[in-house]
Amino acid sequence: MITIGLFYGSTTGNTEESAMAIAQALRTVQGVAVDIHEISTKTVGAIVNYDRLIFGVPTWDVGELQSDWDMVLLKLQSLNFTGKMLALFGHGDSIGYPDTYQDAIGILGTACLEQGADLVGWWAADGYKFDESQALMEGMFMGLALDDNETEKAADRIQAWVEQLIVEFALLTLEDA
Ligand SMILES: Cc1cc2nc3c(=O)[nH]c(=O)nc-3n(C[C@H](O)[C@H](O)[C@H](O)COP(=O)(O)O)c2cc1C
Repeated sequence: MITIGLFYGSTTGNTEESAMAIAQALRTVQGVAVDIHEISTKTVGAIVNYDRLIFGVPTWDVGELQSDWDMVLLKLQSLNFTGKMLALFGHGDSIGYPDTYQDAIGILGTACLEQGADLVGWWAADGYKFDESQALMEGMFMGLALDDNETEKAADRIQAWVEQLIVEFALLTLEDA
C-alpha cells in the first residue's frame, strides 16, 4: 500500500473542494490510500508519515501564502524532504491579481525544494493569461494552477493532473501498467 498525504489550506473553500476531487480521483487507484488534512500547527507533524505528498495552497494577500500555510512555513523549513515525492496545486485569480498570480505555489515549492523534495506534477503555463508569477520556472508552473475565472476547466485539469501524478508518483505496479 502506498500512502498519500494531501494537506491543504483554504480560506473560502475553493482549494478544499479541489482537494476532495483530487483525493477522490486518486482513491480509484488500487493499492493507494489517501488521507486529507487541513494544514495547521496540529497537523503539520503528520507530513513525515506519508510515502507521497500533495500540498494545496491558494494565494492570498497579494502574493502571499494562505494564512494556515503561512503559520506552518517555519516548521516546514525544518523538515527533511530528501527524496520525498511531492506535488503542489494552487488556486488563484489571474484577472484580479495578474502580477502575483499563483505566487503561493512558488513560495511553497521553493521552500520544499530547499528541503530536498522531489517536486513532481509540474504544469504547463500555456493558455493561462497573467503577467508575473513566482510559481513559474522555465515556462512551467511548479504545480497545477486552478483559476477562479476558469472554473469550467477545473474538472478536466484535475483529471489530467491526477493521471500525470499516477505516472510520476509511480503508483501503478508493472503488473497494472
Ligand atoms: C484579498 C485577496 C487577495 C488575493 N490575492 C491573490 C494573489 O495575489 N494572487 C492570486 O493568484 N490570487 C489571489 N487571490 C485569489 C484567491 O487565491 C482565490 O480566490 C482562491 O480561489 C481562494 O482559494 P480558497 O477559497 O481555497 O481560499 C486573492 C483573493 C483575495 C480575496
